[in-house]
Amino acid sequence: MPSPIRSKLPHLGMTIFSVMSQKALEHGAINLSQGFPDFPVPERLRALLAEAVHAGHNQYAPLAGEPMLREAIAAKVCALYGCALDAQAAITVTSGATEALFAAICAVVRAGDEVIVFDPAYDAYEPAVTLAGGHVRHLPLCPPNFRVDWDRVRDALTAHTRLIILNSPHNPTGAVFKPTDLEALAQITQSTDVLLLADEVYEHIVFDRCQHQSLLRHAELAARSFVVSSFGKTYHCTGWKVGYCIAPPRLTAELRKVHQYLTFSTMTPAQHAFAHFMTEEPEHYRQLPAFYQAKRDHFCAMLRRSRFRFTPTRGTYFQLLDYSELSTCNDVEYADQLLANAGVASIPISVFYQHPPPQQRLLRFCFAKTAPTLEQASARLCAL
Ligand SMILES: Cc1ncc(COP(=O)(O)O)c(C=O)c1O
Repeated sequence: MPSPIRSKLPHLGMTIFSVMSQKALEHGAINLSQGFPDFPVPERLRALLAEAVHAGHNQYAPLAGEPMLREAIAAKVCALYGCALDAQAAITVTSGATEALFAAICAVVRAGDEVIVFDPAYDAYEPAVTLAGGHVRHLPLCPPNFRVDWDRVRDALTAHTRLIILNSPHNPTGAVFKPTDLEALAQITQSTDVLLLADEVYEHIVFDRCQHQSLLRHAELAARSFVVSSFGKTYHCTGWKVGYCIAPPRLTAELRKVHQYLTFSTMTPAQHAFAHFMTEEPEHYRQLPAFYQAKRDHFCAMLRRSRFRFTPTRGTYFQLLDYSELSTCNDVEYADQLLANAGVASIPISVFYQHPPPQQRLLRFCFAKTAPTLEQASARLCAL
């Protein structure tokens, strides 16, 4: 008998997104759980991908990404955040934001290092820290607005703190940073060696005329940051798995050492397609806030007739709904009931906490869906 494998991640099961999507399939439920659109990729972008394949762009891309795409990213970041970048030395194209997050964490976290993460936290961060031998220090975001308590962050810093992982716009709560958050972060970290990892995959999905507060807007923060984004979220093509990481050359050099042996490079024809599309149609990402705000407003207007309570989300394509008036069950149980009885799949947010607040009754719903899908789901939710 071979001896059992001593798991490096013994407490980890399948991600909640796969679990709920699988259950949604089994129940034939409307899937508002996993964060992906049910509408098509822009037609021109699909055509550009096909053109790139036919033109023969099918072999390994350069390790750091196609120069044309990195130039397009640099131009966008300069226009939006006023940050001038050396595309050659500071931008790396990765196989989704997931790869960038993992590579950044592996590149800088050593055994015994501490990494600050804010709960509820997207579930990709902690396993990477654990595999790197680090320890996650969980700090809570403060309901009802899920803001960071910067005094608590200051108190949590130790000589071992290596990295703080930030996520704005925030999944699952939809909270977005304000300029004062960046100021506070800069002040707390200024005379330290702490590095920052900013997960900004929803950078183009902010509402109510808010501006996305990228760490790239703030020179002192940018100098110690990995900033990660995802083409999948911006161009409705999560299945293409293309993202990127922006970091100062000294950090990029370390990130690329990991990226080189994790995936080496990222799907070539997709990089060509994005490079052309970004240059041809910058309107796409400029119009994204209005596009998703209309969906948020439509979904929320319908849900006002329901017994769920909510504050319209400020960013991302996720809406939290409080079901306290409907049930006293915990959110994992209630998400299962909703799936089985109402045929709507959602995500219980307690799974994103080390210690979930016991009285919290919140589910996350993805509204990156067509109007008929949202109408059908809302009708079911309103009938409860
Ligand atoms: C906060 C956050 N970060 C990262 C990712 C992963 O992005 P990608 O699909 O580009 O790997 C997601 C996807 O849902 C996300 O919500």
